[in-house]
Amino acid sequence: MTTAYRKRGVDYSTGSMFTLSPEFYRSEEIYREEIDNIFYRRWLMVCREEEIPETGAFITVAVGDESIIVVRDDRGTIRAHFNVCRHRGTRICEREQGQFGSGDIQCPYHAWRYRLDGTLKAAPLMNETPSFDMSDYPLHSAHVGLWGGFVFISLAEDPVPFETEMAGLIGRFEEWHLPELRIAHTIKYELKCNWKLILQNYQECYHCPGVHPLLSKWTPFRGAVHDCMEGAVIGGYMEMKEPNGGMTMDGKPASVPVCDVSGENLRRVHYYSVFPNLLLSPHPDFVLYHRIQSVTIDRIRNDCFFLLHPDVIADGTKMERFRSAIEFWDKTNREDWHVCEQMQLGLRSRRFERGRYSGQEDILFALDREVLKALGRTPPSR
Ligand code: FES
Ligand SMILES: [Fe+2]
Repeated sequence: MTTAYRKRGVDYSTGSMFTLSPEFYRSEEIYREEIDNIFYRRWLMVCREEEIPETGAFITVAVGDESIIVVRDDRGTIRAHFNVCRHRGTRICEREQGQFGSGDIQCPYHAWRYRLDGTLKAAPLMNETPSFDMSDYPLHSAHVGLWGGFVFISLAEDPVPFETEMAGLIGRFEEWHLPELRIAHTIKYELKCNWKLILQNYQECYHCPGVHPLLSKWTPFRGAVHDCMEGAVIGGYMEMKEPNGGMTMDGKPASVPVCDVSGENLRRVHYYSVFPNLLLSPHPDFVLYHRIQSVTIDRIRNDCFFLLHPDVIADGTKMERFRSAIEFWDKTNREDWHVCEQMQLGLRSRRFERGRYSGQEDILFALDREVLKALGRTPPSR
């Protein structure tokens, strides 16, 4: 099978496609532009709803220089607040996750206290301060969007509406009943490469025959179909060689099909990147996703999650079998991380200029366009 072009978006089937210049992987100035225009503006996936299950449960999320508290309030609504006290700007919460004990968010410096919805509840002695009005000092809020059990935030004051940005996702993968699935396993990685290299690596299988001999056995690399080629959500799927195959060490299914997955989806492994930090991969028998956090220009945290139906998670025998999928993807991930780190090293060379994409990498050209568009720069020539 050859790559399917033009199902949605731009026609990349003709012309020459060149990579971004290496400056995009080594210039601190461009990295700062990316933080300002991408990570501070676009929708970022930060957690699953199940990770903040009850009132007061929270996580904190680092985005560039910012820290955001994502918390479930008294009404069960998920909220996102800048982790900055309105008194004198102290960072309030130091923990990565937890539960606000009394239901309040309290600054450690002068003990201003905020409700879970961000409103200021108590500010010691400030009633003696002329014209001080508590309602003028809520925590600054970030926007929250929910889809498929995933929690997204945007730090922009006026972001593109969530439904507009995620149009490519909404209505997709209904058979998986994503909100019902739960985290069965997590692997945390730290990588020495730029965040864009991981998105690029995820979206092409030109590298698969050499880098992933086992994966290539189960899903031949020329079987990639890209059906979303423009915008925040891009990707497609690969066909498994065997009718009853699976992405595991032995090529057999890791588990029973997820919820209502049927028909052609029993043979397909989907790979979608949700720009800029979610890699989402529904398989017939589980869902794999990666949450990318850019730490510096050449450092990322990459947390990899496996979702399953709670009935499968509760079944010890089924989970024993599922270890084969975890082992397979951990091995495959590490194969990928190695080449991404090697690429980051190579991109520091003063001799390397722009490279030339193969037809198998047309989707990377779409990713590059998304980066350039966000930075207000001219898309690359073809
Ligand atoms: S800085 Fe937070 S209470 Fe003073
Ligand atoms: Fe790979």
